[in-house]
Amino acid sequence: PPLSEILNLHDFEAIGRLTMPEKAWAYYSSASDDEITNRENHAAFHRIWFRPRILRDVTNVDWSTTIIGHASTMPIYISATALGKLGHPEGELNLTRAAAKHGIIQMIPTLSSCSFDEIVDAAQPDQVQFFQLYVNKDRAITKRIDMRMAFDAEDPHEIGKSGSDKVDRSRGAAKAITGFIDPGLKWADISWFKSITRMPLILKGVQTWEDALEAYDQNLAGIVLSNHGGRQLDFARSGIEVLVEVVEKFKEKRGITFPNDRFQLLVDGGVRRATDVLKAIALGATAVGIGRPFLYAFSTYGVDGVDHALQILQDEFEMNLRLLGAGTIKDVVPDMVDVSNIRSH
Ligand code: FNR
Repeated sequence: PPLSEILNLHDFEAIGRLTMPEKAWAYYSSASDDEITNRENHAAFHRIWFRPRILRDVTNVDWSTTIIGHASTMPIYISATALGKLGHPEGELNLTRAAAKHGIIQMIPTLSSCSFDEIVDAAQPDQVQFFQLYVNKDRAITKRIDMRMAFDAEDPHEIGKSGSDKVDRSRGAAKAITGFIDPGLKWADISWFKSITRMPLILKGVQTWEDALEAYDQNLAGIVLSNHGGRQLDFARSGIEVLVEVVEKFKEKRGITFPNDRFQLLVDGGVRRATDVLKAIALGATAVGIGRPFLYAFSTYGVDGVDHALQILQDEFEMNLRLLGAGTIKDVVPDMVDVSNIRSH
């Protein structure tokens, strides 16, 4: 169907299932084990309800924000997802170009199909991109990746070795492409990352308030509350539910409220609507990551699909901010959500 018939992000999934290359559909749509966490990522949003306010002037609404110091037209960013070329020959470049058009941030994955150079070259001169780093067992490679990101160019071929082109495919796709990741990574290593970069560091995959507090105490710039789209530990809780717990505990243990600029909370998993995003914002998140919908969008429609997906979100933000009675993202406050169905721990 033409893009004009695609009315929401769910539609991209339904069409992708019918039109995408089979391998791409299998890799993009799947999750771990029995996919309980993947389903929970959606279900958790269904337990949160709005408390919209009325008779507030919402003639002009503005849903732009700042994520880790960088302007974004929406409180969303494109999550890092591996192997973009499975779905479309231009792979991650579709995301780069649509992100530029809409003024949002793309998180580039370590395991991108396009090279780091291709992705950075496809970006506009002033376009901000984040980089998702899988830490190599060989820390010299991780260090060189960082230097490359700071545009202090070295041998580009060396960087490729950390990615998907040097893999042992005898053990299945997932293991093959992640075999270089260091399972020995620990909290004490954070000081080493700080020593090799001046870029802000955010930690992805936090799933408890205890680890969130540790990240804060280690002076990181923020965390992503994420179970990686239900693709890692099944029965991990949803990011949105962990967010409620984290915000409560930071208030109790440190007297800190969110959002704040010293330490930002990002969330991902199961976000498909601006209403999902606004729930996270109300609860204290700065922004929310979205993964699969953009993969389905470019697999069927290329860059135009991602552009259309982002335009749908822009339209949903405008409409739903008005309906919520909020003029700006700052006006989306905790009182605007009812979390009584999840405040049970
Ligand atoms: C991912 N994700 C991911 N995360 C990461 O840090 N590095 C990676 O290489 C990948 N690869 C990847 C591939 C595919 C196909 C998917 C669907 C996801 C996880 C991703 O960053 C994000 O956490 C989830 O995709 C968010 O959930 P939704 O929006 O897909 O429900």
